[in-house]
Amino acid sequence: MDVNNVNIDISAVEPKQYPSNGYPEIALVGRSNVGKSSLTNVLINRNSYARTSNTPGKTQTLNFYNVDDKMFFVDIPGYGYARISKKEREKWGQMIETYLTTRRQLDGVILLIDGRRKPSNDDLQMYEFLKYYNIPTLILATKMDKTPKSKWNKETSLLNKTIELNEDDEIMLFSAQTKYGKDEVWQWIEKHTGV
Ligand code: GTP
Ligand code: MG
Repeated sequence: MDVNNVNIDISAVEPKQYPSNGYPEIALVGRSNVGKSSLTNVLINRNSYARTSNTPGKTQTLNFYNVDDKMFFVDIPGYGYARISKKEREKWGQMIETYLTTRRQLDGVILLIDGRRKPSNDDLQMYEFLKYYNIPTLILATKMDKTPKSKWNKETSLLNKTIELNEDDEIMLFSAQTKYGKDEVWQWIEKHTGV
């Protein structure tokens, strides 16, 4: 899709703050620092619209990016960030669970995984959770610019071995730095949202 205009419409922590215009939504989930905000920027052709950072845990609310008044990307705060209190983590869990399990506009989730590492238990749990609720999922191995191409096949088969992939789901490789995989990711989004 050619993106012309993007607004960060809404930062929400609870349902009454979610946008009410009914556009389809694609949510981005994954560990803190894995590259969710960077992926958002690549998909919308901006260098730094979604705030990226080396400090994990920068994104703390659900951020709804309105893409051309057609759909929303929902940037979800990352998990696996150790330096937050138990109470904050519970609040975070509630916020995300409520969104993922009740949002009717949600057409799919992109689960980002660091392409250099084996999926963590948190990653695998997140995938199981998404499957339990029948949410179409794209597993996106990112930061692939940091892995030599000669190892990409090995990476992909490791992912396939570690994750019990539902037959409707897909695994793709991506790099926010080189934009590798951008078109395929957009195709997946278009297929699931109908935009
Ligand atoms: P939280 O908001 O904390 O959950 O993090 P996030 O998942 O939004 O990660 P973010 O996009 O802020 O990226 C974290 C760091 O990884 C930044 O320093 C990015 O520049 C870097 N990064 C993200 N994607 C890539 C990539 O594909 N390649 C490389 N080399 N660096 C990346
Ligand atoms: Mg972020």
